[in-house]
Amino acid sequence: MNRYYANLGDVWKHLVLAELLALEPPKNYWETHAGSASYPLTHSPDRDYGVYRFLEHGDSVPELAESHYAAELRRLSGDGEALANYPGSALLTMHMLGKGAEYLLCDLDPESTASLRAAAAKLGLGEQERVRDADGMTTVLEEARRFEGDPGEVVVTIDPFEPFVVAGGASALEVAASLISGGFKVVYWYGYDAPEQRAYPIGMLREYARAAGSTVWCGDLMLTATAGQSEREVEALLAGTDGPGAGCGVICANFLPASNERCAALGEGLAKAWRDATLPNGSPGSLEFLAIGS
Ligand SMILES: C[S@@+](CC[C@H](N)C(=O)[O-])C[C@H]1O[C@@H](n2cnc3c(N)ncnc32)[C@H](O)[C@@H]1O
Repeated sequence: MNRYYANLGDVWKHLVLAELLALEPPKNYWETHAGSASYPLTHSPDRDYGVYRFLEHGDSVPELAESHYAAELRRLSGDGEALANYPGSALLTMHMLGKGAEYLLCDLDPESTASLRAAAAKLGLGEQERVRDADGMTTVLEEARRFEGDPGEVVVTIDPFEPFVVAGGASALEVAASLISGGFKVVYWYGYDAPEQRAYPIGMLREYARAAGSTVWCGDLMLTATAGQSEREVEALLAGTDGPGAGCGVICANFLPASNERCAALGEGLAKAWRDATLPNGSPGSLEFLAIGS
């Protein structure tokens, strides 16, 4: 089950994902940790700091107002109504790509997979989807090994709970490294608890990418107030909140430089829209954005 939906981490991940899908629509979309199709959208401190802030302040920043994510949220809420259900990454993707793509969606939670099948059927995508009640890392690696098409026509989202845990043969980071080396387009999400861990996956993933002639880009959003603080100090700063940690980011591999630049503009825009934000516990919630190219 996913209790973090519609928080800041989701907003950043989905903002980037929607943009990349629109700019470089793939023929195949695979996801290791797909979650549920959608989640009832109600206020919580975490969601107020997440998607509700985007809905209330996004329009004042042109990059965000013109984003494909904003367009999808507007389309899903319909006629200026409040958004009733927040779409997970898989539903967002199925809405955007429709019948133009084939989907492989994995999750270990049977309620989540049932919701994905039902959502796909409702969108008329029953023929296009394969939803697997299975470990996403091994399933996607196996799929990649068997895949005979152009890996540049596959987008894989890896959104791990525990990036270093080896479930069934490979950790999420190892899966990302393997797919990046193989030329697949990857969107890999990470979070971290202390500022010294900022952007930590890029070091390892960049080495794999360089060796294979692949490209990686990292977009990282860190709470400004955590800069220079230890993990313990960050914990004190965030006491009483359910997130977001010191920061989070996405690594995007094998996308075009122009698409990465567009994502960088979205990251700058998000930092602008969060400039005077406060965290659920009243601590300063402004964000600083860092982009690292390959
Ligand atoms: C944060 S949610 C996914 C959210 C979704 N990717 C999104 O962006 O809307 C994480 C999901 O991972 C699932 N999960 C945990 N371990 C898994 C594994 N080894 N393989 C597949 N799914 C897993 C959980 O059941 C949960 O639904």
